[in-house]
Amino acid sequence: MSISKAAESLIAKAKEGKDLNRQEIIQLLYLPGKYSPELFVAADNVRKDQVGDEIFLRGIIEFSNHCQRNCLYCGLRKGNSRISRYRMTEDEILAITEEIKKSSIPTVVLQSGEDSYYTADVICHLIERIRKETNLIITLSIGERSLTDYKSFQQAGADRYLLKHETADKNIYQYMRPGCKWEDRLQCLRWLKELGFETGTGNMVGVPGQTLESLADDLLVMKYLNADMLGIGPFIAHPDTPLAGIDNDDMDITLRVIAAARLITRNTNIPATTALATLHPQGRLLALQAGANVVMPDFTPEIYKNRYDIYPGRKDVGSAQDIINKLEIDFRTIGRFINYSAGYRQTKYH
Ligand code: 5AD
Ligand code: SF4
Repeated sequence: MSISKAAESLIAKAKEGKDLNRQEIIQLLYLPGKYSPELFVAADNVRKDQVGDEIFLRGIIEFSNHCQRNCLYCGLRKGNSRISRYRMTEDEILAITEEIKKSSIPTVVLQSGEDSYYTADVICHLIERIRKETNLIITLSIGERSLTDYKSFQQAGADRYLLKHETADKNIYQYMRPGCKWEDRLQCLRWLKELGFETGTGNMVGVPGQTLESLADDLLVMKYLNADMLGIGPFIAHPDTPLAGIDNDDMDITLRVIAAARLITRNTNIPATTALATLHPQGRLLALQAGANVVMPDFTPEIYKNRYDIYPGRKDVGSAQDIINKLEIDFRTIGRFINYSAGYRQTKYH
């Protein structure tokens, strides 16, 4: 199905970087047809122009699957008694950061559930050791903490922080995250940004009750926060959670949100998420051709990896180096290549 003149001129407007209002963003997401080549091509062009053909890698370590929260969608939720819990020690984490360094990836993402076992002091000590022993750039993804904690993480040497807003629909957010407040999430994100962290946010696409209007609001939140990194992934139902059985096989809409995010936020870093790779064998490459420019290989040791069971069927088994070699071959098929530098958000490519 070809698109109308109105849709064509809307895409052209987005491609030029003109501000889009909520109605226009909704229209972008409503484009007819299963795949929307015009939207993806425009996003791919903007990606090339703004951040180049290079793909940046971040090595991720999922160091604890304990979580105090009880999010309805997530396998790590406190109420899931079927999961076998683990915590990595500082030495174990350090050993993996050495591996990341050996594979020439300059940045590590330390991710966990919301686990207060790792107090601010414990996290700061870890950051200091990683900085001293490997000099890796450190991204934290450990949930909501106090302003004081965020400040101390930064003083200890962390540069980046990921905290997805998950959904801009306040009612869905508070339903899916019992005891959590949407405003608190936004407050944390504002603090992180004000402190000068490269800040990542993002959403899940396909959660129950979500509309295209609310996805447009997600994009407006990303823009409003001036987030530097955007993690956009499909919701995948986990059998041991209250949202079990609510299937989401629609990858197209996730790709559209990625494409719209690239058009709207221009020079941000957008990962092709593991969740997309899990939903579809070509999910990662399709995302990289719809605006994404980052991939995050999982360095979590094999003994723990399967237990970081946020959603079922997570791909990427095998050693991280095998995964990177395979990625490199895949990237070449779409004319892209790995860049082993830090990959800060760029003001302009070149
Ligand atoms: N499907 C997709 N993503 C999920 N996450 C948690 N549960 C799911 C799920 N069922 C994502 C959330 C959160 C991160 C820990 O994982 O976006 O930020
Ligand atoms: Fe915990 Fe995050 Fe999962 Fe919620 S989404 S249960 S906070 S790990």
